[in-house]
Amino acid sequence: MKTIFVTGGAGYIGSHTVLLLLESGYRVKIYDNLSNSHLEAVKRIERLSGKSVEFIEGDIRDTDRVANALQGSSAVIHFAGVKAVGESVSNPLKYYDNNVLGTIELLKAMKQSEVKKMIFSSSASIYGNPQYLPIDEQHPINPTNPYGRSKFMLEQILRDIYDTNRGYSFGILRYFNPIGAHPSGEIGEDPQGIPNNLLPFITQVASGKLDKLRVFGNDYDTPDGTGVRDYIHVMDLAEGHLRMLEKLDDNSFDIYNLGTGRGYSVLQIIKTFEKVNGINIPYEIVSRRAGDVPVSYADVSKAQKELGWRAKRGLEDMCKDAWRWQLKNPKGYRSSM
Ligand code: NAD
Ligand code: WQD
Repeated sequence: MKTIFVTGGAGYIGSHTVLLLLESGYRVKIYDNLSNSHLEAVKRIERLSGKSVEFIEGDIRDTDRVANALQGSSAVIHFAGVKAVGESVSNPLKYYDNNVLGTIELLKAMKQSEVKKMIFSSSASIYGNPQYLPIDEQHPINPTNPYGRSKFMLEQILRDIYDTNRGYSFGILRYFNPIGAHPSGEIGEDPQGIPNNLLPFITQVASGKLDKLRVFGNDYDTPDGTGVRDYIHVMDLAEGHLRMLEKLDDNSFDIYNLGTGRGYSVLQIIKTFEKVNGINIPYEIVSRRAGDVPVSYADVSKAQKELGWRAKRGLEDMCKDAWRWQLKNPKGYRSSM
């Protein structure tokens, strides 16, 4: 049985992927500093899967600790990182330190332990303002903030390592907008403080925690004037990692977009959420948010063709599952403390 070393495995996307790994017969070691997650997520993964996970609390910048923990693993899925775009503008050093330096230390530890396979969480934010749609993997790269730049720097670092060292295998996955939760409502996204992203904000308005949603702009060149994104169910995203893991061989470097290939506007999201959950979402239109692109959605044909993967869940599932998670866990993982 193969052991997969999952950095950031207690976090939002990591926890859903770990659950699928366990259900697919892999052994898992989670390495996470819990800076944006809770041990409770790991307990729930164990409960849902009926299997145990080895959890190591630590920072990816602690090279020796990582190298020790890595022993016996056959591949790394690397989710650990910080991800708030706005914060990356006000505190870029945090992003270069945690994401870029952190990944370099992880790569050094992998070299020491002779682990040569990695799946890396990249982001559609590296494309910047789309020059054409849908966005394929050949689209020019032009990140507009330090978070996006940290991801692109890392893609280049991984490419350099691949080019000069035999036997490495890297799978780079560029996620579009992950939302939703496991259908059990036991694991999900648990942002600290007021959420930055649309869906967590909507679920908190739905629960009465926040009084209304502010829709950032209705004067974009889109069918209803509001921003359009490619929202993907986190379980579909998790499945993409399993397909990528199966494809990693002893010498490969691949990049895939993971999205649905469909764009939905903010107003479509609000309407769908209201319809499937029978809840009213009060909102007001405010001015555009600085740095937002009008429209973004993926060309997913490469992942379909080469990974045999495509997103199966629709927007209604995403909205229902996000709401079930919020209802069962009004204070996120803190609800069970
Ligand atoms: P998350 O914050 O829920 O998970 C990240 C996890 O990494 C957390 O558990 C956190 O405690 C841990 N972590 C952070 N820094 C660490 C460090 N230095 N050492 C050890 N652990 C550390 O975020 P997520 O949404 O699950 O995102 C996972 C990855 O996917 C991130 O790299 C993120 O940049 C990327 N990504 C996320 C999105 C998104 O919208 N959620 C989109 C594109 C890419
Ligand atoms: C979606 C749409 C907003 C909140 C960000 C990162 C990206 C990736 C995913 C990590 C936009 C609108 C939002 C609100 C709103 N993360 N909106 N009111 O900006 O596409 O992407 O998260 O890699 O890198 O940039 O996602 O969920 O913030 O916004 O009207 O309160 O919802 O304007 O059109 P975004 P989002």
